[in-house]
Amino acid sequence: MAEQHSSKGIMWATIVVAAILIAIIYPLTANKGGSTATTGNAADEADIRIQPVAKFELAKAAPAAATGPRDGATIYNTVCGACHNTGAAGAPKIDDKGAWAPRLAQGKDALIKSVTNGKNAMPPKGGATLSDEEIKGVVEYVIGKAK
Ligand code: HEC
Repeated sequence: MAEQHSSKGIMWATIVVAAILIAIIYPLTANKGGSTATTGNAADEADIRIQPVAKFELAKAAPAAATGPRDGATIYNTVCGACHNTGAAGAPKIDDKGAWAPRLAQGKDALIKSVTNGKNAMPPKGGATLSDEEIKGVVEYVIGKAK
C-alpha cells in the first residue's frame, strides 16, 4: 500500500512538472509563431529591417545633391564669413556699408574678378575651391548684404 502511494505520488509529481513545463514553454513557442504570423508585427519588423538601408540611401543621396553649385549664403557662411564677418586680415566687414560703397562701385564683374584671382590679403576664391557659378552666386550674395 505504502509503495503504491509513493508511486502515485511520483506519477502526480511528474504530471505537475510536465504541466509546469508546458505552461512555461507553450507561451514561448506561441509568441514566436505569433510575431511572424500577424501581419502587423511582420510589417513592423520589416520596417526595422529596412531602416538601415533607407538611411544608407539617404546618406548616399546627400553628397550627390551637394555636388551641384552651393548657394551664395552657404558659401559665404563657410568660406568668406571667417574674414568678412570679423574684419580679419583687414577684410571689409559685411555690414560696413561705408567700406563697401567704393568697392561695389567697381561693378559686379570687377568684384567677381577680385574674388576669383584674390586681392592683397584675400586669397583666390577666398582660399576655397569654387566654380565660376558659385563665385558669381556668392559675390551677388555679398553685394546684396553690403549695399
Ligand atoms: C582670408 C580672409 C578673406 C577671405 C576668406 C575672403 N576674403 Fe574677401 N577680402 C579680404 C580682404 C582682406 C579684402 C580687401 C582686399 C583689398 O582691397 O586689399 C577682401 C575683399 C573682398 C571683396 C572686394 C574686392 C574688391 O575688388 O574690392 C569682395 C567682393 C570679397 N572680398 C568677397 C569675398 C568672398 C565672396 C569671399 C568668399 C568666397 C571672400 N571674400 C573671402 C579677405 C578675405
